[in-house]
Amino acid sequence: MDAVLAPPKIRFERADTETSRSAAPVRKGGAPVKVEGLGKRYGSKTVLGGIDLEIRPGEFLAIVGRSGCGKSTLLRLLMGLEAPSEGRIEIGARGGGASDASSRFLFQEPRLLPWQRIVDNVAIGADKALSRSERRALASAALEEVGLAERAGEWPSVLSGGQRQRVALARALVSRPTFLALDEPLGALDALTRIDMQRFLERVWRDQGFTAVLVTHDVSEAVTLADRIILIEDGGIGLDIRVPLERPRRRGTPEFGAIEAEILGRLLDRRP
Ligand SMILES: Nc1ncnc2c1ncn2[C@@H]1O[C@H](COP(=O)(O)OP(=O)(O)O)[C@@H](O)[C@H]1O
Ligand SMILES: [Mg+2]
Repeated sequence: MDAVLAPPKIRFERADTETSRSAAPVRKGGAPVKVEGLGKRYGSKTVLGGIDLEIRPGEFLAIVGRSGCGKSTLLRLLMGLEAPSEGRIEIGARGGGASDASSRFLFQEPRLLPWQRIVDNVAIGADKALSRSERRALASAALEEVGLAERAGEWPSVLSGGQRQRVALARALVSRPTFLALDEPLGALDALTRIDMQRFLERVWRDQGFTAVLVTHDVSEAVTLADRIILIEDGGIGLDIRVPLERPRRRGTPEFGAIEAEILGRLLDRRP
């Protein structure tokens, strides 16, 4: 077994919470998401329109679609990084986008600070109200969770691409988010590292229970990870399907292939 996939020895949780004093692992769970009549225009160009979407707490949703169809735009709207032209978004009990501490974004590039050690890069994601040493302790635990505890004192430049992305994931998870948005997070990795990272991402999602929204151009990645896949086309949701396969999923089975083929067929049919 890959060491990365082994159950984590240490869970990172706030030492001052009720739950951390009990033996049970913290399962903060995921935020529900509700989107109604969402639209986005840039100047006279309508990128998204009339999007209605509900995501269940803890659900893993993948967004696929042709390049330029608006996947990243939808994710940025969900994160509150951009304002909708119309419609509304509710994440958890809050109105508006998810621009608070319980939501985190993972990008294709790890965006680590080269002049900060790995542990301090992760500590950046922790609650600013905590002391520096508390943030570092949480960061160390988060690094343990992503299998990089022994690299804490090193610089980002000595890590491989996959390891850097794991540091970025630790930084995103150190605050125990209830909502995690991922925009092609594995897009820059080689094929094998990518598959390792998919398993890894699935494990932390199952452990922590956050709601995950993953944008990917890789249909097989979407079928591997998602409970549900939506396809964006012509500014709206063209396909919305559940993936009823047991986890962990195996590529190459007929059931896996059938779902993949359905989505790929739709994407290829719509080729300009
Ligand atoms: N800030 C912006 N200003 C103008 N047009 C934009 C902006 N962001 C995205 N777009 C346009 O919106 C469309 C969707 O972009 P994007 O969401 O990045 O697509 P995807 O992630 O699916 O490849 C594209 O045509 C893109 O050029
Ligand atoms: Mg994009």
